[in-house]
Amino acid sequence: MIDFTKKTVLVTGGGAGIGRAIAEAFGKAGAQVAVAEIGATRAAEVRAALQGAGVEALVIEADVTRSDDVQRLAAAIEQRFGGLDVLVNNVGDYLVAKPFEQFSDDEIDRLYGLNLRHIFGVTRAMLPLLRKRGAGASILSISSIEGIRGAPTCSIYTAFKAAVGGFSRTLALELAPEGIRVNVIAPETTETAQVPVSLAIPDVNKHHIPRWIPLGRFGQPQDCAGAALYLASPLAAWVTGTTLNVDGGALAAGGWMRDPSGAWTTIPLITGNGFIGIPSTEQASLV
Ligand SMILES: NC(=O)c1ccc[n+]([C@@H]2O[C@H](COP(=O)([O-])OP(=O)(O)OC[C@H]3O[C@@H](n4cnc5c(N)ncnc54)[C@H](O)[C@@H]3O)[C@@H](O)[C@H]2O)c1
Repeated sequence: MIDFTKKTVLVTGGGAGIGRAIAEAFGKAGAQVAVAEIGATRAAEVRAALQGAGVEALVIEADVTRSDDVQRLAAAIEQRFGGLDVLVNNVGDYLVAKPFEQFSDDEIDRLYGLNLRHIFGVTRAMLPLLRKRGAGASILSISSIEGIRGAPTCSIYTAFKAAVGGFSRTLALELAPEGIRVNVIAPETTETAQVPVSLAIPDVNKHHIPRWIPLGRFGQPQDCAGAALYLASPLAAWVTGTTLNVDGGALAAGGWMRDPSGAWTTIPLITGNGFIGIPSTEQASLV
């Protein structure tokens, strides 16, 4: 049921990271893959990768925050494929991290454009193409686990990511009578060009990672690709208006982590060596 032969998929921002993994996964599953990518080098790289894998690919250099680019994208997809089965709204960026009051109006506008506004524009432009394929077509948008929990220094980003869920739930209802499903993927920290987590964590701290995330590691782009294939496939035929957390159990954990002995705790500990995670209740009483 994860066979997308003769299906057409559009991934925005498919030149790197999560978007690229999603584009490649759909291609591997037999789909014709359209990618909208702002970066010329990344566009060329993903075009070569898809074509090298034998995928029928249409990679267009485009800025999805620009309505003229979006119209050009829709026209090209219609001309080449005649319709669209799956839209993946993947573009998004936290851009800068700082306290709320330091965000300028320009930065807020940019964050809106990159994390929410283009989802409205691209989805509206692609709806006629999705309707051509009708029941079974679907829309996915990549939000973030930070759209569900708080993320200090990313107040504006988290607000727009939360709004992706609100928009998608309502659109799911509006399109349900036509059999077009709308869902959201909410990743936790995932190794990408934008979030090079393996570089961000000093080697000396890497051995703590298995205790920070319940399933023992940060995400890889392929984790989201698996979720996207499922949500767009007939396996999810009765799934709409929902958010799938791809987070290794992080949201379920809330503030819980494991201490160096493996015991679960919520009590942070600073030692002479700096932050080492958190101690169990018994250890905390000794500090
Ligand atoms: N990586 C993470 O830890 C993480 C966690 C939660 C949510 N997310 C979300 O997942 C999505 C993908 O994130 P990523 O880490 O893979 O990002 P990334 O920056 O590594 O890749 C995004 C791609 O989109 C392209 N792009 C950017 N702006 C564009 C535009 N206006 N038009 C067309 N293409 C554009 C970039 O050139 C890049 O190739 C985003 O929505 C992000 O907010 C990522």
